Amino acid sequence: MLEQIEFTTKSIHQKTNNFSPEIGIILGTGLGGLVKEITVEHVLPYEDIPNFPVSTVEGHSGKLIFGTIGGKKVMAMQGRFHYYEGYDMKQITFPVRVMKALGIKTLCVSNASGGMNPNFAVGEIMIINDHINLFPDNPLIGKNLNQLGPRFLDMSDAYNKKYIELALNIAKENNIKVSTGVYAGLTGPCFETPAEYRYLWRIGADAVGMSTVPEVIVARHSGINVFGISIITDLGVEGRVENVSHEEVLQVANAQEPKMTFIVKELITRI
Ligand code: HPA
Repeated sequence: MLEQIEFTTKSIHQKTNNFSPEIGIILGTGLGGLVKEITVEHVLPYEDIPNFPVSTVEGHSGKLIFGTIGGKKVMAMQGRFHYYEGYDMKQITFPVRVMKALGIKTLCVSNASGGMNPNFAVGEIMIINDHINLFPDNPLIGKNLNQLGPRFLDMSDAYNKKYIELALNIAKENNIKVSTGVYAGLTGPCFETPAEYRYLWRIGADAVGMSTVPEVIVARHSGINVFGISIITDLGVEGRVENVSHEEVLQVANAQEPKMTFIVKELITRI
């Protein structure tokens, strides 16, 4: 894996005139609008990046974007890789290893999720304060490469508390309603049954989705500070579970995206 990371990093350096980002961004389903806030310097489609998997889902276009937001050098993944697409954990998280090798210190991740917390409404913005890994897998399984991070990773502070505080302040100052909560990550691609939503709520999760957890584990393994934000696109609240479709998820995510984008942009500016 070290050779692959090195090779991919070199290739990106060549194609971006040695661009050195401070902040990485992973844009979730329907949340690509943050890209409009980037003063773009370079765009690399995933198919032009050696060792990068190619994204398959509708709503994920698959590009690395390099540029600045509020004067900060950023790189954004427009389109991420999901376990349900058939990629393994190492493939899903390979871009995070590359981001680290390119120099990022902070990773901002966004996603769409289903909300189990009965206080949530559709369209709620949830700042992630913790997660539960319900994937039957972990990207750190296998021989540990000590150059990349520790064998036994502390996860007591996976979502940086200062960033959460900062995001809550930004939301308050701008009258944007946000909540905080725990994100449960599982494989999909099925949405949950009512019994599964009930179970997820009872074990302590406020929202559920099919991404984020693998990337956050690898970011922490790499010593990167993480900020996570989720848009609740549908509810899995006991007695109120309704049909959910990918189209609906995209629609709600798109509608709420400007608020989320504002928070992330402002956070990046202030970090
Ligand atoms: N469950 C899992 N993933 C999701 C959901 C959901 O209800 N909504 C958006 N992504």
